[in-house]
Amino acid sequence: MLSALLARRRPGYSLEAPFYLSEDIFEADMEHIFRRHWIFAGVAPQVPEPGDYITVEVGADSVLIVRDDDMNLRAFHNVCRHRGSRLCQDHQGSLGNIVCPYHQWTYDLEGKLIHADHMGEAFLREQHGLKKVHLRNLEGLIFICLADEPPADFEEAAARMRPYLAPHRLDDCKVAAQIDIIEEGNWKLTLENNRECYHCMSNHPELTISIYEQGFGYQPGPQNAEGLAQFEHAVNESRARWEAMGLPSARIEELDTRVSGFRVQRLPLDRAGQSQTLNAEVACKKLLGNFEDKALGGLSVWTQPNSWHHFMSDHVVSFSTIPLSAGRTLVRTTWCVHRDAVEGVDYTVDNLTAVWNATNAQDRRLVEAAQSGVASSAYEPGPYSPYAEALVEAFCSWYVDRMRAGTTAAR
Ligand code: FES
Ligand code: FE
Repeated sequence: MLSALLARRRPGYSLEAPFYLSEDIFEADMEHIFRRHWIFAGVAPQVPEPGDYITVEVGADSVLIVRDDDMNLRAFHNVCRHRGSRLCQDHQGSLGNIVCPYHQWTYDLEGKLIHADHMGEAFLREQHGLKKVHLRNLEGLIFICLADEPPADFEEAAARMRPYLAPHRLDDCKVAAQIDIIEEGNWKLTLENNRECYHCMSNHPELTISIYEQGFGYQPGPQNAEGLAQFEHAVNESRARWEAMGLPSARIEELDTRVSGFRVQRLPLDRAGQSQTLNAEVACKKLLGNFEDKALGGLSVWTQPNSWHHFMSDHVVSFSTIPLSAGRTLVRTTWCVHRDAVEGVDYTVDNLTAVWNATNAQDRRLVEAAQSGVASSAYEPGPYSPYAEALVEAFCSWYVDRMRAGTTAAR
């Protein structure tokens, strides 16, 4: 069924219903997308000190991400090499060594088995270290890959994103807030919703205080030429200023032209032009990195298949999407500020999180309404706007290409 559905997918149209509803296709998504590609797993400030860890669930696989004593980030399967017990049950924490709760096999922070009682003379500890998972720290964004051989083109994608991200120094930030929501919808509807701003003006009153809707996949068309001209003028003025400061801003759009698809662009913000807040002014007085100018717009970073981020002068807001089942998706939002910023003095969590808390709740309702709709017998794939939904098509065409590649290779 899956191969036939992939073969007949009509470009420019939303996907057929089974892609959003079928548990079999959900399993195929986990196998061919989430266990084969680089997945955004979290931000480095979630594990600031040696021994700090987070766990990330990718389908049946649990991945343990830990900072070792040399401050390197490492990822392991969260599975004991004795009889397979889950090692760390919590979503985050801190430990000296990794001790299995079952029979106390003990691993160091590099994954080496350093203690196992009653195993006899012939037992070789060195053959029972934790299984490694590939990890890359891209300027504070942590990506993992469960495949034996991860997509090699990630390195080149990372090299092109790095100059955009580096000035914000996410590695030197702390987590100010992290909020999980569950959307009762398929993960692809979450991503499709993220990859257009066609819905922004009518659904996101808080977000559209600061963002221009035209920045996210709009193409000039008969009905939007005037708004686009104003937006382009704001972009050109800001870009000249930012480039003079050494901040790259030009759009790189490689969402469906490579295996490790991504998009980066620094865009001006409206009104005060500083940050995605209710008055478009910075939410944190202490700026990131060496920044002195508050009006650095928003650097938007998108990676296939599961993340988007906004980097501003004062904070970074980061989103990861983790599929839970065909009809349930975890969206984890993390707000980071400078490590030395003081809550209550430099920022308040309420102000920092106000826009995206409201926006996430609105997006959740949109995704859930879409999920209900695609389950109807009346649903059939509908056309994407050529002027406002080109990046939704880029997401779907990337997904279909990668699923075709995966299912062909698996045959
Ligand atoms: Fe981990 Fe036995 S299963 S020590
Ligand atoms: Fe939205």
